Amino acid sequence: MSDLIHYCLEDGMALIGLCRPPVNALSQRMRVAILSACERAAADTEVKAIILHGVHGLFCAGADIAEFGTDAAFAEPSLPDTLMRISEIDKPVIAAIGKLALGGGLELALACGYRIGEPGARLGLPEINLGLIPGAGGTQRLPRLIGAESALNLILSGEQVDAERARLLGILDRVADNAESLLDEAQAYGRELIGAAAPARPAEQCPKPASDLPEDFFSRFRESQEPLWKKRLAPRLVTSALEAACLLTLKEGLARELALFQQAEASTQSQALRHLFFAEREAGRIPDIPADLPLRSIRKVAVIGAGTMGGGIAMNFVNAGIPVALLEQQSAALDRGLTQIRNNYEISVKRGKLTTAQVEARMELLYGTLDYADLADADLVIEAVFEKMEIKQQVFQTLDQVCKPGAILATNTSSLDVDAIAMSISRPQDVIGLHFFSPANVMRLLEVVRGKATAPDVLATTMQIAKRIGKLAVVSGVCFGFIGNRMLEPYSREAHRLLLEGATPAQVDQVLTGVGLNMGIFSMQDLAGVDVLYLIRQANRTASVHDESYCRMGDELYALQRYGQKSGRGFYRYEGRDRREDPEVVALAERLSSELGISRRAIDDQEIHDRCLFMLINEGIQLLDEGIALRASDIDLVWINGYGFPALLGGPMHYAEQIGLASVLAGIQRYRSELGAYGEMWFKPAPLLERLVAAGKTHIERF
Ligand code: 3HC
Ligand code: NAI
Repeated sequence: MSDLIHYCLEDGMALIGLCRPPVNALSQRMRVAILSACERAAADTEVKAIILHGVHGLFCAGADIAEFGTDAAFAEPSLPDTLMRISEIDKPVIAAIGKLALGGGLELALACGYRIGEPGARLGLPEINLGLIPGAGGTQRLPRLIGAESALNLILSGEQVDAERARLLGILDRVADNAESLLDEAQAYGRELIGAAAPARPAEQCPKPASDLPEDFFSRFRESQEPLWKKRLAPRLVTSALEAACLLTLKEGLARELALFQQAEASTQSQALRHLFFAEREAGRIPDIPADLPLRSIRKVAVIGAGTMGGGIAMNFVNAGIPVALLEQQSAALDRGLTQIRNNYEISVKRGKLTTAQVEARMELLYGTLDYADLADADLVIEAVFEKMEIKQQVFQTLDQVCKPGAILATNTSSLDVDAIAMSISRPQDVIGLHFFSPANVMRLLEVVRGKATAPDVLATTMQIAKRIGKLAVVSGVCFGFIGNRMLEPYSREAHRLLLEGATPAQVDQVLTGVGLNMGIFSMQDLAGVDVLYLIRQANRTASVHDESYCRMGDELYALQRYGQKSGRGFYRYEGRDRREDPEVVALAERLSSELGISRRAIDDQEIHDRCLFMLINEGIQLLDEGIALRASDIDLVWINGYGFPALLGGPMHYAEQIGLASVLAGIQRYRSELGAYGEMWFKPAPLLERLVAAGKTHIERF
């Protein structure tokens, strides 16, 4: 028998244990192994019932995602065929579900006649998150078990339900008393079924899955959901598959499901989402740091500055049950910060996401102070004071004096040099950048900035604590803007320059939202504040030796006090939530174009797309070449989770691969020659892009 399966016969029952850690993913080898074990049990006259279980507790997290896009995904025996064969065995087959039954794992359980789960087990069909649909019977067997509407909701949401809810829905027949007794209880269940001469499969609970639904259910459902689905393909395919379950026989429905699944699997959307699945897991690996490096222990955290960022940062830790000392300079600011945190929690109570008792428990973990002596026992200190080098260095020098040896000292700076902060104290090895995004208690992204001197265990500990507080941590080296904001620069520059050449803010934004970005660049800048961006620009202007004509729009809007949404006028004019194109802005752009000697023309959408996005991509590739980003997929994660880049495109680097690296390079070269001195100055292809194209590579990697 295969190393992937533990097989034994006990009490007239075949126990088939899945053993492919960590999650028993159903690779081709695994399918072969399961099928052959099931065939053996089916053929053995001693065997009266079969139990499928996970040897290490966990049942199965589904098909092997790494196989999609390769021949192995459908290689014989395919998952649908394997499950069909299991469903045809003429003996009771019981799935004993420990920890997880997800995707193909739940479909495996649905192919069994009977199911029992441990109390903490989570069950679901999360394929939609990968741009897929359940493709091994999920869309056909689940509605026949729990009805079409419940099945549709579960599959479209990708939600994982716990064992008790699964029992109430009708997915599980039984819930075991506890995880330890699961297999014993499954065996007892088997004995009962044998004793009662139970059929191999009980009668279908919902043989007519749509019997309680109106006839026009699916057409109405589509009508109401289409606007929400936007460009997503998978929800549309799921709905078609569920409709098929209501109209066709099981056999026909399974064939339809397979065709729809293959369409989803081949789509660029699913490729992008699968890329992101692995990108997220890869981001935690740091090539020069061994996975078993001993970490520093983090039991108490301190945050300095109770402003917009400091408050949100503190909330992350108390939400995870870690006590936080929150330090401010003055009691008024501290009170304001603590009140704001409480207000944020109250909103969660109103929305039913937290109870009052939970809020009190969290507030108890928060300790406001004006005294640095209270930071002496903190294991991790995060500074979030004003964005000024002198102030930050002063704060770090104080920390150097008061903090215990080995404490990790982090800065939340968004634009200052982390190395310059580190080098200003006696323990630069303990310093790291933790660039949270606003609102810090909501945004999942965290750029972890590794300084020149940052100790490996400081970085590794920080990555681990980030995971503990539910953040997606991506490592960046030190440079102006780190990964995300540095890429924002050329992207934003092109957008501004395009206004001077004849585009309007709304035209640029429409192209970008048309690609799927959450917001266009000008709406985003109006939200962030034209004034805020101006001040950041001013602070960094002396260092710049470049042509800054493209900054003129922003500078002039600032001078006109058009600060964006907050002042009702910026790149747009606002009336309440309503955003309008403003002729004054177009007139301003015309005036500036003439002052700067830039001739205006009609600009087509493709040019806007290429200039903004190719410059974004080019900068990302340059960051990779410089070693600021460890891998292209990290860049994708930053832009998707921090800047609203569409996940369906897989991030700017993945999108560039889809467009074709040679086309991206050709586009950059074209504008370099077409845009005169401006093109000469800014459209410089990243050397790594040129090398990749010259070598005929299609994948972005350091090379
Ligand atoms: N296929 C291949 N590898 C998988 C996998 C899968 N279905 N699920 C998890 N893994 C791998 C991860 O890549 C990771 O590998 P690594 O250690 O080399 O990075 C390892 O298992 C552990 O995963 P996590 O780091 O994510 O561990 P967690 O404990 O945080 O989470 C999990 C475990 C909840 C199972 C999470 O990994 C998950 O959500 N997995 C995907 C589940 C899923 O989407 N299943 C549906 C697959 S598609 C399908 O079944 C199609 C079918 O209908 C035909
Ligand atoms: P803020 O102005 O809202 O808060 C700063 C707080 O620090 C104030 O409450 C102030 O009283 C306090 N403070 C100032 N000097 C102090 C000192 N010496 N000791 C103790 N407290 C002091 O500013 P915000 O927006 O929270 O920014 C803080 C840091 O986070 C900055 O470095 C900023 O660049 C960075 N950041 C800001 C983001 C944002 O979107 N606002 C995003 C990411 C990073």
